[in-house]
Amino acid sequence: MGEPVLLTYLHEPDQGELGAYSARGGYEGLRRALSMSPEAVTDEVDKSGLRGRGGAGFATGRKWKFIPKDPAVTKYVVVNADEGEPGTFKDRTLLEGDPHRLIEGIVIASYAVGAHLAFIYLRREFYHAREMLERALAQAAAAGMVGRNAAGSGFDLSIVLATGAGAYIAGEETALLESLEGRRAMPRLKPPYYPAVKGLYTQPTVVNNVETLCHVAWILAKGYEWYRQQGPPILISVSGHVARPGVYEVPLGTTIRQVIDRAGGMRGGRQFKACFPGGSSSAILPAAYLDTPMDYDALAKLDVYGSMLGSGALIAMDDTTCMVEVVARTVEFYRDESCGKCTPCREGTMWLGQALHRMLGGQGRVEDLPLLDGIARGMTGTCFCPLGESVPPAIYSTLRFFRHEYEHHAKTGTCDVRVMA
Ligand SMILES: Cc1cc2nc3c(=O)[nH]c(=O)nc-3n(C[C@H](O)[C@H](O)[C@H](O)COP(=O)(O)O)c2cc1C
Ligand code: SF4
Repeated sequence: MGEPVLLTYLHEPDQGELGAYSARGGYEGLRRALSMSPEAVTDEVDKSGLRGRGGAGFATGRKWKFIPKDPAVTKYVVVNADEGEPGTFKDRTLLEGDPHRLIEGIVIASYAVGAHLAFIYLRREFYHAREMLERALAQAAAAGMVGRNAAGSGFDLSIVLATGAGAYIAGEETALLESLEGRRAMPRLKPPYYPAVKGLYTQPTVVNNVETLCHVAWILAKGYEWYRQQGPPILISVSGHVARPGVYEVPLGTTIRQVIDRAGGMRGGRQFKACFPGGSSSAILPAAYLDTPMDYDALAKLDVYGSMLGSGALIAMDDTTCMVEVVARTVEFYRDESCGKCTPCREGTMWLGQALHRMLGGQGRVEDLPLLDGIARGMTGTCFCPLGESVPPAIYSTLRFFRHEYEHHAKTGTCDVRVMA
């Protein structure tokens, strides 16, 4: 499976200290980057093939290249540390265990795009991560790694740590920028307001995920060729009914089955039934798809609507799981987190929730199956932002692969899965 990269030092108790981090080669990537031109740094990241780990999988080097070069234009780097996708917990793990890696990645990214002010938008509930980051930022500033003349290079950068208020929608990059500017976190109309064109305070802005920037630090420290040879690596948050839930580092393209095996297989030796391969926004895949590689293209190419790698959150479910209940809980999450701006998402999630709860409560009707499908179709391609579009995949995939469970609930008012388990 290859040697770990991102997780190499993560469990060393002193990894959050600048001295220990530097002794283990930390900030070498920054020194190397500052000795190169900003364009060469961007090229290095481009050649590494790194794709953003926040969910959309956009090529990081390409994203940076959209930022105008004109030094007279103010630019910003914003770190998305909001991590709210159900099943995703790898960013928190990095923030708590290796905060200097993120800081190093931020300075490299800011240098590459010519930003002199960067923000970390941190989920408020991440109290420990906040402590670790505050301490690491103070150490990095005292050692001259950030601030004026970073690492003696003549490049100036300030990093501001901001916290959100715990809304999932605040992780959507334009909603995040609204929140950073002091308004309610609601997505902005796009185009023309893509962050690279008009981002924070209407200036060109790079928004990158925590894990993405940690990869950047490694790429600059070891070179893009070395990095590509490592897989390239990816962190997968594995949860659900596995023996050892946790964050696993694997080469991109490791199959779902292999990742589950790394996590100790299914808990109590039970049968695998289905999984979300990329967090709750992705389609639910049954056992027939266990040998699918966990990579952006392989998952997106499957014949299942909404199948994707997303934020790399594998939620595995065993044969005691009622899929109607899973979908009901998933829909409830999106209903509660919907910002309410557009009708298909606001109403669709509420109607789906009502129909599913009726079914789970023994009041289901056979007509509820086409009703669920119809509501999901009404939401597909009509929502203002990807949050609303994240709901139909779970509905479509379970109506296709686990239709009999819905039918059983609708016809008998009971759950045959729970009875068998
Ligand atoms: C509803 C919603 C929530 C999101 N939450 C996060 C998040 O918590 N962290 C994150 O990095 N990206 C999140 N994203 C994706 C961001 O909009 C954006 O694509 C990402 O931060 C870009 O960073 P990357 O290119 O490094 O992946 C979310 C997107 C949506 C639609
Ligand atoms: S899709 Fe949902 S979260 Fe996104 S803008 Fe519409 S109501 Fe808000």
